[in-house]
Formats: sequence, C-alpha cells, structure tokens
Amino acid sequence: MSELVHGNLAGLRDATLARLAALCEEPLEAGSFLPRSLMQTLAALSCSFNREVAVYITRDGEIIDVAVGTDAEVELRDCRLRRNQRRLSRVRCVHTHPGGDGRLSDVDLSALKDFRYDAMVAVGCLDGEPTDVQAAFLGAGDSLVMDPPVRWYKVPDAAWLQQILDSDSLVGREQAEENLHVREKAVLMGIESEASLAELARLAQTAGAEVVGSFLQKRGRPDSALFIGRGRAEELARDCQALDADLCIFDEELTGIQARNLEEILRVKVVDRTALILDIFAQRAASAEGKLQVELAQLQYRSARLIHAAGGLSRLAGGIGTRGPGESKLEIDRRRIRERTADLRRRLAELEKQRGLRRRSRERAGIPVVALVGYTNAGKSTLLNVLTGAGVYAEDQLFATLDPVSRRTETEEHTAYLLTDTVGFIRKLPHSLVSAFRSTLEEAAEADVLVIVSDGASPEMLRQRETVDEVLAELGATDQPRIECINKTDLGTAEPGIPGAVMVSAATGEGLRDLQAAIAKALQRTTVTATVFMPFARGRDLQQIRSLGRVLGEEYTDEGTRLTLLLPAAEKERIARQYGDVFV
Ligand code: GTP
Repeated sequence: MSELVHGNLAGLRDATLARLAALCEEPLEAGSFLPRSLMQTLAALSCSFNREVAVYITRDGEIIDVAVGTDAEVELRDCRLRRNQRRLSRVRCVHTHPGGDGRLSDVDLSALKDFRYDAMVAVGCLDGEPTDVQAAFLGAGDSLVMDPPVRWYKVPDAAWLQQILDSDSLVGREQAEENLHVREKAVLMGIESEASLAELARLAQTAGAEVVGSFLQKRGRPDSALFIGRGRAEELARDCQALDADLCIFDEELTGIQARNLEEILRVKVVDRTALILDIFAQRAASAEGKLQVELAQLQYRSARLIHAAGGLSRLAGGIGTRGPGESKLEIDRRRIRERTADLRRRLAELEKQRGLRRRSRERAGIPVVALVGYTNAGKSTLLNVLTGAGVYAEDQLFATLDPVSRRTETEEHTAYLLTDTVGFIRKLPHSLVSAFRSTLEEAAEADVLVIVSDGASPEMLRQRETVDEVLAELGATDQPRIECINKTDLGTAEPGIPGAVMVSAATGEGLRDLQAAIAKALQRTTVTATVFMPFARGRDLQQIRSLGRVLGEEYTDEGTRLTLLLPAAEKERIARQYGDVFV
C-alpha cells in the first residue's frame, strides 16, 4: 500500500487501497480545478465503504496525499508546502460527504483557516455518484470567499483557480504589511570592541530589530571563508537557534562569499554593519535627493556582492538588509545595476546642479552658512530647533536626520546667517555612503563656520570626535573656523574633554547664549563687509573682485561702480595687495 494513503483504513480491501493509492499517480491537467473523473472516482470509493475521503492537490495539479475518515468526518491534514505559516499552503483539500450533502461544514471552514489551504472543497455523493460541490477560499482579514453549492458537472474550474491566485496575493500582501510591524530578532557578533558592539545594538534597534543576544570575539586570523572560524560559526549557529533569531548582524564588513557561507551554517539571514546602516538610511531618506543617494549606495554595495544575492537563503523574505527606496530591490542583474547606477548618477547630478544654483542665490543674498556637524545622536537637530525654532525631527535614534535642513536666523547683532543641520557621522561609515552623500555633506563642508557638536553624555565622546575629524578631513572641510560644542550637560557630563569647548544643553537651554556668542564672533572673524570703488575703465578688475565675495549692494555713479561686498577676512588683505587702494 502506498504511504500516501492515511486514516481509517481498517477493513478496506487491498484492491480498494490500491485504487486510493492510484489517485496520486495521475496529475490533474493544467487549467483543471477539479476534474469530473476525479469526483466520480472519489464518490464511487467513498460510497463503497461509506467513509469520507480527502485528497490534497498542489497548484501543479499533483495529488500528494489521500486520507480516509469515518462516515461523518475525515481528519483534515496540515499539508503546507510553504514555510511561512500565515501564507496560503499552496495545497487545496477536496473531500467527500457521503450523505449526499455538498455543503461545507463549520469544521471544514475552520480547517481552511487553520491549515491555510488554497481552497476547501466538499463533494457531496450518493449512491456512488457525485451530487453538489461547494468551495471556499480565504479572503481579506481571514474572511471567507464562497458561493452556494453548484451541481457537480458545473464546477467553474477557471474561476476557482483564479480565486486561489487572488486569495494568495491578498494574503501575501496582508502578510507583508504585518511583517513590517514585526520586530526581527537579531543576534549581534562583534569583533573586539565593546563600544562598537553597543553602537551596533543601537543601530539594530534603530533599524527596527530586537536584539536578543550579542557576542564578542577576539580578532584572530581572518578567515576568508567565514570571517570567524568554523568552530565559532557553529557555536553561533546554536546560539541563533536557541535565541530564535531571525538574523545575525556582524560588526564588520563581510564579503559576499563570507555572508553566503555564514548563512548556510547559521540558517538565518546574515547582515553586516554596512548593510544595516544602508537599511536605516533607506528607511529614513525623505527627500528625492536622499532617496537617490541611498539607492545608489545600496546598488554599489550589492553589485560587489551579486554572487551572494544569487545564492541567498532568505533574501527575499524582507526586513533588514532588503529595504530600499528604489523599485529595483534585490533581484536584479549586473546589466540592470549598471544601467540603474548610470541613471541615478545622472539624476543626482541634475539635482546637485539645482542645489548649486540655490546655494549661489543664497550667496548673492550675502548670508553666511554655519553648519552643525557631529556624531549621530549628538543633538544637532535639537540644537537647530532651539536656536531657530525650526521644528526638525529629533529623536533618540541614530540618523534621525538624513537630509540637510537649513534655517535662517541671526546673531544678537542682527547678522543674518543660515544654520544647517546635517546627517550624523558614525564610525565605520560605509565608504559608499560617504561618497553617495558627498554632495549633502559638502553643504556642511563648504560652510563658513563649523559647529562641531559632541555628545557630552557619551563615554565614547572623544572617539566619536575623532571620527568626525576623519570624515571632515575626507570631505576637505579643514580650513574654516570651528566651534567645539559639548551638548547634553544636563546629563552630568564628565570632564570637559575638548579644550575651549562651549558647554551647552539643548534640553535646558543652558549655555546657548555662549554658543550664539561664539557663532557671532566666528562669523565676525570670518567675514568683513567692505566697499570697493572701481572706475569704469577697470571693469575687468571689478569683475574679479566681485567673484571673491558676496555682493550686498551695487551702485553706479558717473565715474564708476561702488560695490559693497561680504568678504572672507583674508580676501580683504589680498585685494588690497593686488588691486591697490580700492576700498572706500
Ligand atoms: P542624527 O540625526 O542621528 O545625526 O542625530 P542628532 O545629532 O541630530 O541628534 P538629535 O537632535 O536627534 O538628538 C538625539 C537625542 O538626544 C534626542 O533624544 C534628543 O532629545 C537628545 N538630546 C539632544 N540634546 C540634548 C540635551 O541637551 N540633553 C539631553 N538630556 N538630551 C538631549
């Protein structure tokens, strides 16, 4: 007897059992929901021994299981062909009601919900012949989709097959939405540094994961296949299983091969620090430019790891590491990556040009720019808010701000300036992100004054400050005056730590006047207002001088042009040397 026949088989003859087993041998024809011949066979068998018979049919038309019950019921089986317990099982259950009643019972309908069948079908049968048939499907929010019973020879095959597909995409969509709200459980794997691991935990939480375990490993000989040694990886696999983790996040950048090999051993999704940061950026990017920049960075990251995506285990399941602003997501090949990258670069270049124009128009308005820069979560957005009343999103999360926000404000002496808040810096900031966000960060880099904000409440303040310096150097922002500012003094900071720093609390307002005064002083130092007079004959010199500063006013007299300029202080001396006594 075939192993595919189950249930109440007592007393059935071998020939009957063979006929039941034979049901599994012939797949259904394509496009057939329930062939008449199958209904006739089921009815004949079911009536011959007066017990219910159930068959389970896959979407490919294969019968994978046959069960026999009593005269009133058959034990309905869980035949899921999908790992995800909420999605449809990809299997429909067709069973007989030997009393002749083709209506589905309450028990049938609750089995449909419990076992997530593609469809639940009852075939009434009497005197060895089928009578009526009724089918039910799952609808939105676990509701049921069902028509009244139909005569057995009127089964609407095409409509019912289509209904399976409709239900499947509906349930899939609902599931995807639910997934968005389910926190993934993450296990962290750090190398050597506790502080970096603690930061990784904050990043993971910011990305929406729940950290269920974290491990630290000494940096040993680098293992090109697994990053950590095989023994350690197997141990980690056990930890992941015990902690019921959905993913494991590594605090270092992994190669595509390492990530794939690790996924094979750990049996959970493997993500590295870069992918995690990219994921947060992908969730946060709000402006058109920010979205393009993130997508570009993600494409660059992925194209280096295509091999990984191709063999990936659960990459398409969603969640951390799979989100992105672009429509292209993960299943994309090298050629499309190249095309999309080129397209993104072109669109970014256009936006950059527009921004360059905006910047120039601001320059013409003669407003200097003061940029708040600093490690993520230092309190830059909060400071911008209290200094300008800007209403910028500030939250105790990393990278709350991705897009630069500028607000016009003024010093006590009524010198207007623009205060700009930029994306936070972070250690091991993926290189692709620094370059993708270059134009945004350059907004800060080109500022007239930098206010470097440090989180005084962080035990890592000095290391974070070093990272900020590294990124600024990478951006070439080394020349303008800097104001050191230590924020969060209300949390009882330790030593001042940074010489000459202004101590403030954005939360209580403490020290803000000092900060404003320091900004005013720096602005004064950096720029001077000067008036130049040039006879018409020296039009070319005038043109050159004009390009050195921001024109505040221009006046024409009979003899020449009087130009009022906001100049970098150093320029004034240079102009005097080069052009002679032109200042009035
Ligand atoms: P990124 O967007 O990640 O770069 O962060 P950010 O530097 O803009 O920091 P944000 O202003 O979002 O502040 C981070 C957290 O620190 C928020 O929860 C703020 O409420 C909090 N915070 C900011 N300033 C202070 C302060 O002076 N004291 C205290 N206690 N908390 C502060």
